[in-house]
Amino acid sequence: MREQLFRRKPVEALLADAAPHAGSLKRALGAFDLTLLGIGAIIGAGIFVLTGVAAAEYAGPAVTSSFVIAGFACAMAALCYAEFAAMIPVAGSAYSYSYATMGELVGWIIGWDLVLEYAVAAAAVAVGWSGYLNVILLGMGIHLPAALTHAPAPGHLLQIDLPALLIVLIMSSILYVGISESARINSAIVMIKLFAIAVVIVVGVFYVRPANWTPYAPFGWGGVMRGAAVIFFAYIGFDAVSTAAEEVVDPQRNLPIGILASLFVCTALYIIVAGILTGMVPAHLIDIKAPLASAFVLRGLNFVAGIVSLGAVAGLTSVMLVLLLGQSRIFFAISRDGLLPPAFSRVHPRFRTPYIPTILTGLVVGITAALLPIQEIAELTNIGTLFAFVLVCLGVWILRHVEPDMKRPFHTPMVPLVPILGALFCAYLMLQLPMVTWIRFFLWMGAGLVIYFCYGRFHSVVNTHSHERDRAAIS
Ligand code: ALA
Repeated sequence: MREQLFRRKPVEALLADAAPHAGSLKRALGAFDLTLLGIGAIIGAGIFVLTGVAAAEYAGPAVTSSFVIAGFACAMAALCYAEFAAMIPVAGSAYSYSYATMGELVGWIIGWDLVLEYAVAAAAVAVGWSGYLNVILLGMGIHLPAALTHAPAPGHLLQIDLPALLIVLIMSSILYVGISESARINSAIVMIKLFAIAVVIVVGVFYVRPANWTPYAPFGWGGVMRGAAVIFFAYIGFDAVSTAAEEVVDPQRNLPIGILASLFVCTALYIIVAGILTGMVPAHLIDIKAPLASAFVLRGLNFVAGIVSLGAVAGLTSVMLVLLLGQSRIFFAISRDGLLPPAFSRVHPRFRTPYIPTILTGLVVGITAALLPIQEIAELTNIGTLFAFVLVCLGVWILRHVEPDMKRPFHTPMVPLVPILGALFCAYLMLQLPMVTWIRFFLWMGAGLVIYFCYGRFHSVVNTHSHERDRAAIS
């Protein structure tokens, strides 16, 4: 049993799974599509919503430093992701990398953990999307009944967040139909949200009052770090690029470009936007629900606020699209290894998409978003993602020792310094999250272990094959 839990999936086997064959996914994405896919997943609720909480409640104007710190941790992790993604370009991302380096149990743990990063985040973003949509509709004089726009709450049990459910189902339908279609729609949406961010910067810069930047860190260093742990959410998504690995042309070259370029662009934009926001509005007056749009309303620029809100709605839409894409690809890879039922890795004969996990993920995420006050557990996404990043960083270092001769089309620079810094920074950010998040995290991981020991352990393809090999060797 011990042997099985730590049995590593050979990298050659991973690559063989992903090699083109009759039932494989369609390769249609280039470096530019991937960069847009990354930006599609990255710019969303983090910058449009959470910047407000981080600035007003934790970091003050020093939220710019929070962005630099979280950005640094992500840059280290991204360099490690780039090495893995180029070396093992398979749909499972961190799940497959961990399976190859630390064995089946750790691989499964990370696969299960990634549900927090992708599915839970998608549900949280859907709720945020519904909130922003409501604001825009109200601005147009359209009032949706509260019973159709809010999750059930004490005293109001008979209500449902219908827009959140519908948007998830619409995004899932697009993903069902095809990767090229999804990428095209994503590109269009990304352009809209980049335009909104450009408007914030170009117009906002004229309304900055440098006096608002002092005191810079009203809550001290602790506030800056807590802020970094919260706005870390804003960076999540660059790694989602790696889940599209089996749908990429020349993945060895294009995946590292997509991962690093999307993170670089977003980091630069975030730091500038955070500087402008805190320069426009005194930190304690920053709105925590729609900070960017409200900053312009405060200055009487309602039209600009409208553009920013539309950009936010578009932005959140593409975040959901890419997160749902990532989740279905990870289920696809896990099922191919036998740790989830085979239906999850069936490819649609015409659309060549993993349609069953796409439908299931869409339904579960949609219903969750419609019924749960999901903002509460959004911090779970951060802890889950940080945990995956820690293991990916360590994994790069481990694999350099275990498989020193493997072909590495992209080398993480300065190993082991970069992986160690990445792992330490991410672990430190995890420690900044509240106890309740840790408890929920352990409960979630505990549920994952139960599933593994009841199902995955008995159906693991790697394990079955090695048993067969052993039997053949004996007979
Ligand atoms: N980074 C994504 C967002 O901010 C998850 O919405």
